Amino acid sequence: MDKIGFIGYGSMGSVIIKGILDSNILEGERMVISTRSRNKLDELGKNHPEIEIAPNNISLARKCQNIFIFVGTGEVKGVIEEIKHEISENTHIIYISAGLTIETFESKFKGKITKVIPSLTSEVGEGVSLVCHNAKVTFKDIEFVKTIFGSISSVKTIEEEDLEVASDLTSCAPAFIAQIFRELASSGIRNSNLNKEEAEEMMIKTLYGTAKLIHEGNMNFDEVVTRVATKGGITQEGIKVLEKRTPLMFDELFKATYNKNKIRKQILNDEWVK
Ligand SMILES: NC(=O)c1ccc[n+]([C@@H]2O[C@H](COP(=O)([O-])OP(=O)(O)OC[C@H]3O[C@@H](n4cnc5c(N)ncnc54)[C@H](OP(=O)(O)O)[C@@H]3O)[C@@H](O)[C@H]2O)c1
Repeated sequence: MDKIGFIGYGSMGSVIIKGILDSNILEGERMVISTRSRNKLDELGKNHPEIEIAPNNISLARKCQNIFIFVGTGEVKGVIEEIKHEISENTHIIYISAGLTIETFESKFKGKITKVIPSLTSEVGEGVSLVCHNAKVTFKDIEFVKTIFGSISSVKTIEEEDLEVASDLTSCAPAFIAQIFRELASSGIRNSNLNKEEAEEMMIKTLYGTAKLIHEGNMNFDEVVTRVATKGGITQEGIKVLEKRTPLMFDELFKATYNKNKIRKQILNDEWVK
């Protein structure tokens, strides 16, 4: 029985691993995990004694043809250098570090590579995981990745050139959405006698209801706007302000994340390729 390896049990790694276990798509017996601070695996080990906790990354790599790398972006290179004598061109590495391009990764590893951009929303089994593969990944590997990430999210395969913009819409978006609604609530507070708790509770319930309406009510954004902002009504006045101000604001947001991505990719490429 081939084992599946997972390196890095931090914020994202723990969400993905717990999601996989909760969905039962992979038996714990097939999983091997290693992480730097081993005490972080105490609870998981207690709840799932069938999972193998490897003493280090090398020992994990020796047993696994499929290895998920969930360490921080700056730590991926060290992990690959550490396990390079245990992996071959048949090994499938699946990593989740946004700024690290597949081309840069290929400078150190010539095998099968999949890059996945998950989202914190997977913590509640929702949202989108973006996926792209290098040319060596087979149909079977693609299906395997779909099964794993499909257990915690919807899976969308995408060209790497569109990955950054798509990541803004899926992986960064929970933070963007929270910030936008925090501002809307704050403005409500400034313009009324409502306190923070009241305004945020209203906002959160409305946000949840709107998402549910779109999802369960089979509506799209246009329909929601049209149904609420009736012609000549009050909501329409607010929509006019948003139509005027938000396109430029969001274009600026995409420009800012593009610039940051460009710098991050260059730094990582210099580190990896030197
Ligand atoms: N958070 C998000 O919403 C999100 C979304 C999409 C993608 N990502 C990407 O996910 C990656 C991980 O992010 P994160 O937020 O999960 O980071 P994190 O919380 O710092 O988790 C990284 C984990 O990897 C462990 N680790 C570090 N070096 C290691 C090594 N050499 N061998 C074994 N384990 C090692 C760390 O150990 P210690 O416990 O000792 O520090 C930590 O537990 C990043 O590349 C990030 O860009 C994150």
